Amino acid sequence: MDGLNPGDPGIGLLAGAVAGPPSREILLVCCGDVPSVGDGALRLVLDLRELQHARTRTLPPDANLEAEGPFAHALVWPRPHLGKDFSTWCLARGALALRPGGSLWCAVRKAKGADSLAERMVALMGEVDVVARDRGHRLLRSRRTEAMDPARARAWVEAEYVIEDPALPGLALRSGPGVFSRRELDAGTRVLIEHAERRAATPRGVIDLGCGVGPLSLWAGTRWPAAQVLAVDTNLRAVAMAQGNASRHGLAERVRVLPSDGLPRREEAEAMGLRTAVGLAVAPDLALVNPPTHAEPEVLGRFAEDLRQWLAPGGVAMVVVNRPGRMTEQLRRAGAVVEPFEYPGYHVLEARWPAA
Ligand SMILES: C[S@@+](CC[C@H](N)C(=O)[O-])C[C@H]1O[C@@H](n2cnc3c(N)ncnc32)[C@H](O)[C@@H]1O
Repeated sequence: MDGLNPGDPGIGLLAGAVAGPPSREILLVCCGDVPSVGDGALRLVLDLRELQHARTRTLPPDANLEAEGPFAHALVWPRPHLGKDFSTWCLARGALALRPGGSLWCAVRKAKGADSLAERMVALMGEVDVVARDRGHRLLRSRRTEAMDPARARAWVEAEYVIEDPALPGLALRSGPGVFSRRELDAGTRVLIEHAERRAATPRGVIDLGCGVGPLSLWAGTRWPAAQVLAVDTNLRAVAMAQGNASRHGLAERVRVLPSDGLPRREEAEAMGLRTAVGLAVAPDLALVNPPTHAEPEVLGRFAEDLRQWLAPGGVAMVVVNRPGRMTEQLRRAGAVVEPFEYPGYHVLEARWPAA
């Protein structure tokens, strides 16, 4: 995953910065394990796939750290695809967890916004130094002194957006840094909703694979008041926000949101009690999917295979994409018959699996 490669020059810079201190004094803020940092460090993890090989202790990104810190060092490794507001969120989260005199470290590519992140560190901490450079990367450090602005840090950590859109009538969705889409409804999601509104027969069960903050599952739960909905995502902030949105709109009983890499295998689903919640008895007959655009072919292949496994006979998966080639190929490989529908800037692929 982006930014988690231990051989990356940015990770190397962070490793050099904290090669001496005891690891229990180190907080990794949504960055990968750092080679010089021992197992005693604490790591906040955004995506549950990062848990698989983590060496250090891990907690979800929004975990309460009061019982954990304060820390002497907080390390941030921004992932540009998640937006500058998430880097800002990480910096603020790290800053608040530091003890007085502690150091906030950020390794960032010069070409990926090093200057603007340095400005943010100044706004937060009162000062910043560029302490090292390596192959286009910079290592920035700020110390926690009287000059730090804790109120600003708290405001950045608590940043929240509201997504309102005519395609989601009566469904204001809360969102925040680190998730997709966060400030407004994604145009592809809107196309998919409009397509499903015209084309889908009333479903009994709906799958939202890669749910983000839940626009598709909550729209489906509202549009079809008898339907059971299963929504999953690997992004732990997104899952928490989607769960909050489902509760806020009185849909938590029927829209079940789970952290999961793809859909759970059937045995895992049974262990999670899904037999009654989405009902393996109420087998899902509609899937609404806006897959991650830049995902590797394996992820799209996994999505296609999961849909094949879970959709009831006669069910349909509606998948929105910018360019149809890669996803069509993966769906066909998983045995689907794919019918494409073209819209300005998007395609919706309807995938069906012929009876075996
Ligand atoms: C393009 S976004 C769509 C989000 C949401 N459905 C919407 O329409 O706004 C794709 C989502 O898929 C999630 N995702 C990526 N890989 C995944 C995986 N292996 N399993 C589950 N979700 C995944 C991402 O975290 C992201 O939230």
